[in-house]
Amino acid sequence: MILKPMVRNNICINAHPAGCAAEVARQIRFARKRKDLSSERRGPVNVLVIGCSTGYGLASRIVAAFGYGARTYGVSYEKEATETKVGTAGWYNNRAFDEAASIAGIDSFTFDGDAFSKGIKNEVVRRATESGLRFDLIIYSLASPVRVDPETGVMYKSVIKPLYRPYRGKSVDMFTGAISDAEISEATEAEAFETVKVMGGEDWQLWIEALAAGDVLASRATTIAYSYIGPALSWPIYHDGTIGKAKAHLEYTSAILNRDYGARGLHAYVSVNKALVTRASAVIPIIPLYVSTLFKVMKERGIHEDCIAQADRLFRERLYTGSSMTLDDAGRIRIDDLEMGAAVQSEVESRMQKVREDNLFDLADIEGFRTDFLRIHGFSVDGIDYSADCPCLGVSISSFDPVGTVETVREGVRGKE
Ligand code: NAI
Repeated sequence: MILKPMVRNNICINAHPAGCAAEVARQIRFARKRKDLSSERRGPVNVLVIGCSTGYGLASRIVAAFGYGARTYGVSYEKEATETKVGTAGWYNNRAFDEAASIAGIDSFTFDGDAFSKGIKNEVVRRATESGLRFDLIIYSLASPVRVDPETGVMYKSVIKPLYRPYRGKSVDMFTGAISDAEISEATEAEAFETVKVMGGEDWQLWIEALAAGDVLASRATTIAYSYIGPALSWPIYHDGTIGKAKAHLEYTSAILNRDYGARGLHAYVSVNKALVTRASAVIPIIPLYVSTLFKVMKERGIHEDCIAQADRLFRERLYTGSSMTLDDAGRIRIDDLEMGAAVQSEVESRMQKVREDNLFDLADIEGFRTDFLRIHGFSVDGIDYSADCPCLGVSISSFDPVGTVETVREGVRGKE
């Protein structure tokens, strides 16, 4: 099938199998290269990534496996491809990851199903028990619009909305460069509550409880959930809105987990990451304009990072340094430090005040935003011939030389705990 991106209202509804595999291969090569920077690295051994198929979860899994030789289990919810229908990008990414791990002799297993359900938690525990492993790193990287409560069967929906008053902000169409004013009405109390049910820490806590009860949580394990804070100009829609409430609940949950499992050596953290282009970010007012301006400023200063660079820095400079972790005053890990630097923020703010349609491409990296947006769906990936036929079921990652590497990675494989 010849596949072109199908974008409707800033949402891409298809994916390119070969592009996804090539992009996973690129990230693997990045992680491998960083691995070579330090030969003796202490790192994770058995890693569980919840939300492993795209974005921050995928990048974290790649760094754990290919940067440290860790065995990884991943959980995600993706649509499988058939002979005649394309699957979701995450489905191709998982296949590519598992194939590359297998080539490299690194254990991996991917569970496809609803992370919020009891069933998948039981499956993960059962498989870990059968394999005789305990997880020493659990990464919680879910981004979901809905959650079915496993006890009541009630379905909750998350929304990205301001609280108490409507929000008006500039919105940009990444394909035309048209700037418009967008307004989002304030959330109802029920919407705010539901967003916390979906994107807050309740399910993270249930995962840790299930792993501990199943005796597959290593002593002295670490668990991390990802969050975002961003600049004050985005706070009405993000930090002070429904999603910010859910993120605050993640921080509350990390305190609960440290209280309940601290005695057995668990450390729970929230890691505040940099803003990146994701499947959802293109449809939130102000965010595409902010992110593309931020990218331009950070690229000009040579400090721009993508998901894999962020995940690598999280592991190498925060989690596995061999000394105690640097945290902010609220006890959070910060890898948004470069984004939030005073000089970067003041430049971004000044550009956002001046930005108009006629200077948009000078002040903001709309092109970069669009390319990243397409790339997470396997389009606009270097080296892919998009006029060529591509099988819906996907292509082997080996054609993209993910590991270049097989032998060196094999050396890094660690034993069971
Ligand atoms: P993403 O959309 O790329 O990935 C979400 C993952 O969750 C996918 O693997 C998807 O399959 C999985 N998932 C969703 N619903 C599921 C379900 N019911 N069962 C199993 N898996 C399910 O998202 P992204 O951007 O990587 O976000 C991950 C986390 O990082 C979120 O908590 C987000 O708030 C946070 N974050 C994101 C930033 C950004 O700019 N993208 C910045 C800082 C933090």
